[in-house]
Amino acid sequence: MYLVEMLGITKRFGALVANDRIDFNLKPGEIHALLGENGAGKTTLMRILYGLYRADEGQIRVQGRNVHIRSPRDALTLGIGMVTQHFALVPPLTVAENIVLGYTDDFRLNREAIRQAVAEAEERFQIYVDPDAVVQHLSVGQKQRVEILKALYRNARVLILDEPTAVLVPQEVDNLFQTLERLREQGFSIVFISHKLDEVMRISDRVTVLRDGRVVGTVPTAETNERELARMMVGRETFGVTRQEIHQGEEPLLRLENVWANDDQGLPALKSVSLTVRAGEILGIAGVGGNGQKELSEVLSGMRAPTRGRVLVGERDLTGAEPVEFADAGVGRIPEDRHEGVVADLTVAENLALEHLDAFTRNGLLDRKAMLEHAEHLIREFQIKARPTDKAGKLSGGNMQKVILARVLSRQPKVVIAAQPTRGLDIGATEYVRQQLLAQRDRGAAVLLISEDLDEILALSDRIAVIYEGEIVGELPASEATPERLGLLMAGATKEQGRAGTATATTSH
Ligand SMILES: Nc1ncnc2c1ncn2[C@@H]1O[C@H](COP(=O)(O)OP(=O)(O)OP(=O)(O)O)[C@@H](O)[C@H]1O
Ligand SMILES: [Mg+2]
Repeated sequence: MYLVEMLGITKRFGALVANDRIDFNLKPGEIHALLGENGAGKTTLMRILYGLYRADEGQIRVQGRNVHIRSPRDALTLGIGMVTQHFALVPPLTVAENIVLGYTDDFRLNREAIRQAVAEAEERFQIYVDPDAVVQHLSVGQKQRVEILKALYRNARVLILDEPTAVLVPQEVDNLFQTLERLREQGFSIVFISHKLDEVMRISDRVTVLRDGRVVGTVPTAETNERELARMMVGRETFGVTRQEIHQGEEPLLRLENVWANDDQGLPALKSVSLTVRAGEILGIAGVGGNGQKELSEVLSGMRAPTRGRVLVGERDLTGAEPVEFADAGVGRIPEDRHEGVVADLTVAENLALEHLDAFTRNGLLDRKAMLEHAEHLIREFQIKARPTDKAGKLSGGNMQKVILARVLSRQPKVVIAAQPTRGLDIGATEYVRQQLLAQRDRGAAVLLISEDLDEILALSDRIAVIYEGEIVGELPASEATPERLGLLMAGATKEQGRAGTATATTSH
């Protein structure tokens, strides 16, 4: 009946119980979604099944037999494979070499034999990537296909996918789902972890929801809906932020004129980028990660100097200015990496006072009491689950992000640069952050939203620009934007190719 059964699995990290007596099972030929907020215990449970962690208590059965899984090698021997978000591929090797590497120990196998074996596997599973392509030149979607092939080539019957769609553009998601459906037909079992309820509804046969390390329930997908799943996950219904009317911006507050900038390697990361963000609007920058978004956000906060072009905030020319000058001009930045936005060793109160410590200094001395009061006020206002004296490094991702939001937004910036503001956050925290950004727009700030999440771009933006390989390849009002149109631009398809059909053929840069 069950291919895999996990019974009473408990996993502790020190005092923290990440998995608390979890029962989870997999039928042959099913796609089983695993849902839950940040920190609910999803990855931990699957790492146990894949042999990366050892459970403190509980039992795993594969095809009715008790098993002990001590390493990924054990897991693979039992037919269990896992694809994580951070691919474990060797970039300078070819697709074929990566797939066979470490599995076929027969060194007499020549290039041609390896190529042939992989080509056959591709036919068998109908997952196609050029076996001769060098992995470092592949798109994220293609790398993911290689990882899936690698697991299947090693005879996995169970495939664990940890947030596989988080890194994909819509067309690649469709492609992945077709693959998963074909595998299901062939009797494979798939664990699908995602924060996206619509994806879970679309692809899965059953859903197990975790909350605080415990199973809330397992339900057949056909007998549930997004609302119920959201309620199971967070204990209340959330509906996300639905698009309000589209706003027309007023006077330009942020302007980029033909801005060029280099990446850390000294190669051009931004190529003649021109953008205008107006008071009272959100300009969304859509794009697949690594196309210049990080450099863009850094140029706009003084962390990185442009090599050419101009950056204007209001009427002030801030090209190449220091971060403090950007802050003084009213630019608030929510950084892409929230660990960059907080100082882990400082308290929440200290973090909330950062960047304007002068406001808490009396006669050259830090006024701790004022700082604590300030923190208490913001903790209430931004619903942060923390005490002023907690070290910021100990907070969960969502609460850390709220600390940054509180610090940046409480100063009422004229311009808000928000880079991937909800990445990795669960639906409750995501909804909160999005509402805050809309509130900034509504009070008249110019908001630049840089996000890889198309749903987020579509839900919040008044205008949308698409960045691809450091260039703005399209700009359109939100009213004309569809996931398909944006997805094609994001994948680097020209308008002509867009009309002709698929974008996946053009993503092999
Ligand atoms: N190696 C570790 N050491 C200590 N604590 C850990 C470790 N791995 C996970 N945890 C903790 O266990 C809990 C569950 O984490 P887990 O990564 O399984 O959550 P998740 O459901 O996958 O969340 P997300 O949706 O954010 O990926 C969290 O509180 C996390 O901080
Ligand atoms: Mg996880």
